[in-house]
Amino acid sequence: MTKQMKVLAFDFNGPAHLSAGLWRSDRDRGEDYTDLRTWVDYAKVLEDACFDGMFFADNDGYHEKYNGSVDAAMRDAAQFPANDPSYLIPAMAAATKHLGFGVTTSTAYTPPYTVARKFTTLDHLTNGRIGWNVVTSYSDSAARNLGNGTQLDHDLRYDRAEEFIDVTLKLWEGSWEDGAVVRDKDNCTYVDPTKVHNINHHGEHFTVPGLFYCEPSVQRTPVIFQAGGSPKGVALAAKTAEAVFMNSLTKPALRKQVDSLRAKAMEFGRNPDHIATLQMITVISAATDEEAQAKYNEYLGLVDYNGAMARYSGWTGMDMAQFDPDQPFADVKTNAGQTMVDVFTKQDPTRKWTPRDIAEQNGLGGTSPVIVGGPETVAAELISWMEETGVSGFNVAHAAKFADVEDFARFVVPELQKRGAMRTSYEGSTLRENLFGAGNQQLFADHPGAAYHRDGLPDGGASGSAVTAASAVVTTGAGPVVATKPAPARA
Ligand SMILES: Cc1cc2nc3c(=O)[nH]c(=O)nc-3n(C[C@H](O)[C@H](O)[C@H](O)COP(=O)(O)O)c2cc1C
Repeated sequence: MTKQMKVLAFDFNGPAHLSAGLWRSDRDRGEDYTDLRTWVDYAKVLEDACFDGMFFADNDGYHEKYNGSVDAAMRDAAQFPANDPSYLIPAMAAATKHLGFGVTTSTAYTPPYTVARKFTTLDHLTNGRIGWNVVTSYSDSAARNLGNGTQLDHDLRYDRAEEFIDVTLKLWEGSWEDGAVVRDKDNCTYVDPTKVHNINHHGEHFTVPGLFYCEPSVQRTPVIFQAGGSPKGVALAAKTAEAVFMNSLTKPALRKQVDSLRAKAMEFGRNPDHIATLQMITVISAATDEEAQAKYNEYLGLVDYNGAMARYSGWTGMDMAQFDPDQPFADVKTNAGQTMVDVFTKQDPTRKWTPRDIAEQNGLGGTSPVIVGGPETVAAELISWMEETGVSGFNVAHAAKFADVEDFARFVVPELQKRGAMRTSYEGSTLRENLFGAGNQQLFADHPGAAYHRDGLPDGGASGSAVTAASAVVTTGAGPVVATKPAPARA
């Protein structure tokens, strides 16, 4: 039987995301990004097509590495300008019932308490349909404008992110017991104070002694997404993520990425089936193969080399103008995003990429593979990616904003549904249920955050660090207690 794929729409709250020069296409509607009705209508299209969710990338710094300037990014709207995606979510949620929403938020410049509160608010307002894409920030412009001017080293950013996630998990899972909200009018008690607890976090990077300000939402913890593919990134994902973005150009490379994440998850005592793997993909579709090919050719003619290089230089932290466009690009270590370098230097040893090849590849849909065709061609290709790699599904990027994913919904989804490869109605109501099936509204028991959940444990809960250790020390309002949650079963 064909396995059902997970499908998210990949987007950005700005006029242009990954594709370079494509805002100039007549099909593109990027300039509507400030119009809330456009986003609401788009969300309805995605829900009608039974997408699992839509997913927003976001940056807190702009691309200014190429030629040592932000000019090329500005000219091509290369993730510039950019609004905050969080504010779009409540309106889109009000117009839909099942569609999930992933929002990227960095661990670099906002305290974990603020981030936890933002996502709980969004989880309440979406009735359990929010996900958090944890990123560590890679740009010097963000460090200058939001931080103290200096970026932490790549691996240190991940160490800090790990503790950051630990704090948020304590707030979401460990502060409020189930049933703390009693709304007892006779005794004038809205919240039972004996059931809300200080988390007492005193770590290397953060001190958060108190209790959480928000009552638990439907999912309690938002679905945790992660995208970094360096060894540190994979380790963090294997420990804490529930959905991971994969970024491979070939099926064998993706197979390796999926297998290594699953193996790492098992090392951390997690069932690898509790992590959805989502490959970024760009699909140019139409009613027939010929029409799709014509559209693709039209798009290719619009790709802008400088716009592609402005993005790629920003992601990698390297000025690509320093390299000969026609000389193979060598393996380099970067303090920004290592995954974006490795995709061209390590994944396929038989292929040597020049900067010009990279620009051509990135011009349409960034570092994702591009599938072009009518419904049958695209459906067959997507299914073969699933079958040959073990990936759970796709994060669908676009060349022309709104238009290409709407075409995907119109042309490809019915064919996938006909083949049993995509759902025809939703099974549950939350994002976690969209990804893992009905009934899975909250964290799986083998997720480190579940160790902080107080209900069901003999002493009423756990704190300490479940991200780094299986046993935990807790402080309740009444004083410190030691609790040990049984180690999660290996898959
Ligand atoms: C497919 C993909 C999407 C990403 N999206 C974002 C994003 O929206 N915002 C951001 O700040 N970083 C983003 N990143 C960067 C990573 O999350 C990560 O912080 C960065 O790649 C450095 O980690 P690495 O060296 O492990 O790749 C993305 C990375 C990948 C591979």
